[in-house]
Amino acid sequence: MNKLLILIGLMLFCVSNANALDEDLFARGESLSAKCVNCHGKKGISTKPPVPHIAGQQEAYLLKQLKDFRNRRRFNSAMRQVTISLSNNELKALAHYYSNLPR
Ligand code: HEC
Repeated sequence: MNKLLILIGLMLFCVSNANALDEDLFARGESLSAKCVNCHGKKGISTKPPVPHIAGQQEAYLLKQLKDFRNRRRFNSAMRQVTISLSNNELKALAHYYSNLPR
């Protein structure tokens, strides 16, 4: 019985750790998101139809898009402007923040 409880505990730990929230990274992303709210909405849910919702999107996807806009592998002038001065770590914080917001 005890072994079973330990096993269940371990499984829950693994599941909950898969997308662990890094509070420092999240907080950095939240403060950087001031640059984004005008277009993507206050919590990553856009009210402007041509602008996508980004809340709850996969973190790896968000980070790739942000780097692609900055490095001109994906073209959008608004997104290029807003990412051009951001470091990889800042983009990582933004991706972490938005991926952890509810959709
Ligand atoms: C001036 C308006 C504007 C601002 C400010 C802005 N964005 Fe965007 N963003 C857009 C538009 C428009 C698109 C869609 C681009 C396209 O059609 O390829 C977009 C696309 C994206 C995408 C790709 C989403 C997808 O589903 O592929 C991400 C991620 C993103 N923005 C994140 C951000 C972040 C993070 C910030 C703040 C640092 C930000 N944006 C600031 C207008 C904006």
